[in-house]
Amino acid sequence: VTLGLDLGTSSLKALLVGEDGKPIASATAHLTVERPAFGWSEQNPESWIVACESVLSELKRDHAEMLAAVEGIGLSGHMHGATLIDEAEVPLRPCILWNDTRAAKEAAALDDAEARQITGNIVFPGFTAPKLDWVRAHEPDIFGKVAAVLLPKDYLRLWLTGERVSEMSDAAGTSWLDTGARDWSDRMLERTHLSRSHMPRLVEGTEASGELRVDLAERFGLRRGVRVAGGAGDNAASACGVGVSEPGSGFLSLGTSGVLFTPAAGYEPAPETAIHTFCHAIPGLWHQMGVTLSAAGSIEWLSKLLQEKPGDLTGSLGEHVSAPGRLTFLPYLSGERTPHNDAEIRGVFAGLEADTDRPAMIRSVMEGVAFSMRDCLEAGAASSRPKRLVAVGAGARSAYWLQLLATVLKTEIVLPEAGDFGAALGAARLGRCAATGEDPSTVMTMPPIAESFEPLTDLEGAFEEAYGRYRALYPAIAALAR
Ligand code: XUL
Repeated sequence: VTLGLDLGTSSLKALLVGEDGKPIASATAHLTVERPAFGWSEQNPESWIVACESVLSELKRDHAEMLAAVEGIGLSGHMHGATLIDEAEVPLRPCILWNDTRAAKEAAALDDAEARQITGNIVFPGFTAPKLDWVRAHEPDIFGKVAAVLLPKDYLRLWLTGERVSEMSDAAGTSWLDTGARDWSDRMLERTHLSRSHMPRLVEGTEASGELRVDLAERFGLRRGVRVAGGAGDNAASACGVGVSEPGSGFLSLGTSGVLFTPAAGYEPAPETAIHTFCHAIPGLWHQMGVTLSAAGSIEWLSKLLQEKPGDLTGSLGEHVSAPGRLTFLPYLSGERTPHNDAEIRGVFAGLEADTDRPAMIRSVMEGVAFSMRDCLEAGAASSRPKRLVAVGAGARSAYWLQLLATVLKTEIVLPEAGDFGAALGAARLGRCAATGEDPSTVMTMPPIAESFEPLTDLEGAFEEAYGRYRALYPAIAALAR
């Protein structure tokens, strides 16, 4: 039995997974986000501990035998957060989260050719390093007391094991990692007035980072000496959960935001495309990730406007994909990361006509999101182009959308059977690797597939033309739609 702990932005989830790889039981504790000023987004690190105590207590109450059989623990968490601790390992202020944009100015100042060369990425405002520059400028007393900077799940690990450790996939989202070398960059640390002494030790996601503290083992009824694996940032953990662990595979997440994630055997950064190039949680692998900020979010917006449930909107189109019409939608309702790295751009409809009807609007929104995922695919290295993509997230419930996406991306899309294949499962799988030494490729398997969608070759030409119109629209309108 292994235990996966996924520290999400809105909840912490614990998942017990059996020897056969199947989830046995789970417990969830709610978390809140504080927004004390415009663009700020914070969480109290103490609340992660309280949430972890709550899920472990619940599992002890309902599944004590299973908990006593746990051999390995894995961690996953929301990325990029800055958790600052002092000499006594006490948090100095609330954690500044991944979706906090207060450090936009500091990020722009750090984001130069040198930073991109070392880290392989744009320094986005949500990344960790610029946040420390912000703290130095606005809270100098706190900055002076910083003994270490930890990512959210690594603060949870400190509580679980007493060890200051991070792992490659999450560390790659800090702007302090030499992503190709899988090591901290002294130069990037120096540029933010920090040094290696402020950073946790680095392990691979599949390696052990420490053992569960004896007092916690006794309190919750776990064995002594249970290993805690390095784990992963939530996206790499999700990839482990759906078996996206080798080049040629990939996943497409249609949540509020959309993510296209592909593993790569080599380090091939392309920061100018606004794609993220991070380490995978599996040794010797990297991954690329394109992010569009409003995927299912665009459908949620339209469904509010038309006063219909999102599932009813997409369902009303049936399953038979129509050729694209003249209406083009840019889904930039809250700005865009890949490929434009433009926080101010907003959405656009172009080509409305007197008889544009409801289905045409719904179709164009779904097409716009599909084209924006195609942008993410095009931004990635040709060598890591996926042969097929596993679809996850709320939007994956629409067969129309998956069929459309397969055609626009010219890639097979597969839909897993209903089940628990998220970041918590990925974390548990990493915990299993650390506990048993099993090869990751035998552990990170694909879930059973319910349905497969192949590109509709007769529509590919029409969608290629429509994608061309979509591509041309942003540069034509960028100065106005903000
Ligand atoms: C990744 C990102 C989010 C966070 C929170 O770059 O910002 O996916 O990890 O889930």
